[in-house]
Amino acid sequence: MSTDTYKLVHHNYDVIVVGAGGAGLRATFGMAQKGLKTACLTKVFPTRSHTVAAQGGMSAALGNMGTDKWQWHFYDTIKGADWLGDQDAIEYMCREAIPAVIELEHYGVPFSRTEEGKIYQRPFGGMTTNYGEGTAQRTCAAADRTGHAILHTLYQQALKHDAEFFIEYFALDLIMDDAGACHGVVAWDLAEGTLHVFRAHTTVLATGGYGRSYFSATSAHTCTGDGNGMVLRAGLPLQDMEFTQFHPTGIYGAGCLLTEGCRGEGGYLTNSNGERFMERYAPNAKDLASRDVVSRSMTVEIREGRGVGEHKDHIFLHLEHLGPEVINERLPGIAETARIFSGVDVTKDPVPVLPTVHYNMGGIPTNFYGEVVRLKDGDPDHVVPGLMAIGEAACVSVHGANRLGSNSLLDIVVFGRAAANRCADKIKLDTPHPALPQASVDRIVARFDGLRHARGENSTASLRLRMQRTMQNHAAVFRTGESMAAGIHKLEDVFAGFEHVGVTDRSMVWNSDLVETLELDNLLGCAMVSIKSAINRPESRGAHAREDYPDRDDENWMKHTLASLDPKGEVTFEYRPVHTYTLTDEVEYVPPKKRVY
Ligand code: FUM
Repeated sequence: MSTDTYKLVHHNYDVIVVGAGGAGLRATFGMAQKGLKTACLTKVFPTRSHTVAAQGGMSAALGNMGTDKWQWHFYDTIKGADWLGDQDAIEYMCREAIPAVIELEHYGVPFSRTEEGKIYQRPFGGMTTNYGEGTAQRTCAAADRTGHAILHTLYQQALKHDAEFFIEYFALDLIMDDAGACHGVVAWDLAEGTLHVFRAHTTVLATGGYGRSYFSATSAHTCTGDGNGMVLRAGLPLQDMEFTQFHPTGIYGAGCLLTEGCRGEGGYLTNSNGERFMERYAPNAKDLASRDVVSRSMTVEIREGRGVGEHKDHIFLHLEHLGPEVINERLPGIAETARIFSGVDVTKDPVPVLPTVHYNMGGIPTNFYGEVVRLKDGDPDHVVPGLMAIGEAACVSVHGANRLGSNSLLDIVVFGRAAANRCADKIKLDTPHPALPQASVDRIVARFDGLRHARGENSTASLRLRMQRTMQNHAAVFRTGESMAAGIHKLEDVFAGFEHVGVTDRSMVWNSDLVETLELDNLLGCAMVSIKSAINRPESRGAHAREDYPDRDDENWMKHTLASLDPKGEVTFEYRPVHTYTLTDEVEYVPPKKRVY
């Protein structure tokens, strides 16, 4: 096989953004607005990106519904992150939240309104006033379809600024030179069946999370960690991959999200005794404790025999008492979802729910400009030339060991904008491209060709199912070394099985068999570093709850894990320090303390 077989189409840009969710779109039009020649590649039509599924809202201390301060938001985020978040980046995000949401309003996001016409804000888990004393109403909402509203508005802005899109293009791999700099990506046009070389001074990965490495996830089926997979194959590490968030209220069986906004609006959870058990686990915040706390409490209730239903294996979420008026105005989307996926009329009956994989705190390590960083020559913040990452694909790290609900829509907008500003500062217009690292392009095409013609005995679907069941059972809400070791054994078997994967369709046009195989390769890399990072961290912190190491160990483990993967599935570890400093003296470093709600 030679690259000639594929007649590569070449493109030159200042910036390539891979992914058209909220982060990708905000970055794309920000770059275009600043005059950079920018293209956005996306495997799905932009408004089908997973941001569309975000429901409850975007946090920002606007103070529309009572006094609020971004400094309280800063404190809540650090505590929510269980002190694994970088405090400089958290300061940046919480301060920028306020102009970011106003900017979205001016772009046209149809936020719900208060009586006075201000943006409506609802309570969300872990969001407090006065450093933990009261409940903050900080989450700016467009009913329960906030992500939908934001995504469509950002796409309209991208069109307004004439950003270029390559839609239904699947990015295969990063073009890297021998010195470790990125020069763009090679992508496959799914509709035309052609391969494309996109050269860029900066490549921005905005490819989302890898929720689909699990069996039950609120994530779209397209959330396959494509950017993370590319980074691992480029020999770069991923950060804090042991931290997987379970959302307390996925619909039992279907896994669809019922927003935390349900509890923000006054919904509550009960066990088989009809007890509001969260009062025992989080006496102050109750049902609005942070997600890791609520998910663990639900799991304990089920394990101890107080689950509901025939098999006592789930929990009830009650909204009946809110009345049809509140539900129709504030939660219309989840009422429809509950009706379709669990057959429940939420105005009359409780909905069966279960903690469900929702978000990856870990990802591609970056600074708060969005630049990818690695540990090099003793420098933990060494910038990888030409490569950025934003959104769920990235680990800035503002979410540390556990993300607070509604900090994700915030993250994508703030850091999408930050990446655009950084590129505008750094890239001089009309800079010529250096020589193309052809060897890298050849390797990318050879891998693609190898998978396209793979004739092994293992189907993609069977390997994927084994991976998903392994992650579901062995890297769950609670983990032990023993159960993870058994999971690693199974996953290594799946990983080895991928060497013998078989693809039955050889065509270049809409070959979904091959797309799913490429996606599985990305997922498998993510799953492998995720479970191996989890067994490597002998403590409990945030969403990483080890029954064999129930305490947080700040002395030894208040540090970021960097995990690299070799082609045989071996994972090696390095560490970066947590940033224990702030950007300005408007906030002070918050030292670790016991985390109670
Ligand atoms: O529950 C939700 O609406 C999800 C929000 C989030 O993950 O930020």
